[in-house]
Amino acid sequence: MAVAVLLQLAVVVQLLCAVVASALNQDGILLLSFKLSLAGDPLGSLSDWGYTDANPCSWNGIVCDSESRVVSVVLPNAQLVGPVARELGFVERLRHLDLSGNALNGSVPADLFRAPELRVLSLAGNGLTGPLPEPQAGQLRSLRALNLAGNALSGAVPRNLVTLPSLTAVSLAGNFFSGEVPGGEVSPALQILDVSANLLNGTLPADLSGAGLRYVNLSSNRIAGGIPAEMAARLPANVTIDLSYNNLTGAVPTVAPFSTQRADAFEGNAELCGAPLERLCSFASASAVEPPRNGTKSPPAIAAIPQGPHH
Ligand SMILES: *[C@@H]1O[C@H](CO)[C@@H](O)[C@H](O)[C@H]1NC(C)=O
Ligand SMILES: *[C@@H]1O[C@H](CO)[C@@H](O)[C@H](O)[C@H]1NC(C)=O
Ligand SMILES: *[C@@H]1O[C@H](CO)[C@@H](O)[C@H](O)[C@H]1NC(C)=O
Ligand SMILES: *[C@@H]1O[C@H](CO)[C@@H](O)[C@H](O)[C@H]1NC(C)=O
Ligand SMILES: *[C@@H]1O[C@H](CO)[C@@H](O)[C@H](O)[C@H]1NC(C)=O
Ligand SMILES: *[C@@H]1O[C@H](CO)[C@@H](O)[C@H](O)[C@H]1NC(C)=O
Repeated sequence: MAVAVLLQLAVVVQLLCAVVASALNQDGILLLSFKLSLAGDPLGSLSDWGYTDANPCSWNGIVCDSESRVVSVVLPNAQLVGPVARELGFVERLRHLDLSGNALNGSVPADLFRAPELRVLSLAGNGLTGPLPEPQAGQLRSLRALNLAGNALSGAVPRNLVTLPSLTAVSLAGNFFSGEVPGGEVSPALQILDVSANLLNGTLPADLSGAGLRYVNLSSNRIAGGIPAEMAARLPANVTIDLSYNNLTGAVPTVAPFSTQRADAFEGNAELCGAPLERLCSFASASAVEPPRNGTKSPPAIAAIPQGPHH
């Protein structure tokens, strides 16, 4: 405990010295607090991050605007170990933060959701734990793409996330989120919603609607009950929807978008029946004996999230 406090103090002292001794700008100071909080950087990805520069614009992974303010921090697959420093949320003009595929742990700091201009946030493929900060998640008015797939996050999916006005793609796949699938009207901008491979339970939200939805993946959760026919009326007819590996029961509605999915969108639900599955319902309707139709083409889901730095 005492050692931890001393280490914290040492960090603060180093930061203070840095402010006094050099003209490194505020964004640089904030980035250095991320570097200093890390427990490991075995590849030396941040070895050129130091106090002696006037700004961080030449540092590995950093892109600045014409006023030497940081707009992009992109360091995927760099084997960085340790927490996501809350200070990153104070980099005022940050638009693109990609720290995917590292070994970052601890929670997603609420302050990260302060960055007023953040458009792309990817922390996919790390070891992050705990819930998402619920009220703060609704603050990212500029956010377009959020990828938190492949962590160990838990708690509910914050409803105010799917209503963010600019959000077009969100993946929370492969975590431990639980509770209900968020229902109601999602942002009209939202095209890709991937909450597959979590622990979501309850029933399907009959009132889920979103005019822009193209891809909804609810596969591999614990969702029970029937597929409400009313859902079909509120979803675009051409949406790709994956309901496989849940605990759904009853007949697949005979209207689009359900009737037009490939059979594998429904597999792994032992008590689901009707077209496009090969399992007939006990009271077989005419549509239940039609051959499987060609499915709608799947968009490459989260591959749609832009990869390179944007500025
Ligand atoms: C994060 O990982 C580091 C290195 O393995 C470890 O020392 C630290 O305790 C971990 N932190 C959390 C919150 O799990
Ligand atoms: C839905 O997600 C699961 C698990 O993450 C994945 O295996 C499956 O291919 C996805 N479905 C579609 C249609 O992309
Ligand atoms: C869903 O999961 C949550 C959290 O684990 C739990 O509290 C709740 O009782 C579950 N609901 C159902 C219907 O199983
Ligand atoms: C699915 O439902 C059955 C019966 O209602 C229940 O016994 C089983 O535990 C459920 N499975 C999951 C993964 O929730
Ligand atoms: C789905 O249909 C809408 C119009 O009804 C169209 O704008 C959109 O491009 C279509 N999406 C796909 C993936 O085909
Ligand atoms: C189904 O797909 C096959 C090959 O992908 C194609 O030849 C066929 O015309 C399609 N059928 C319909 C009804 O679209």
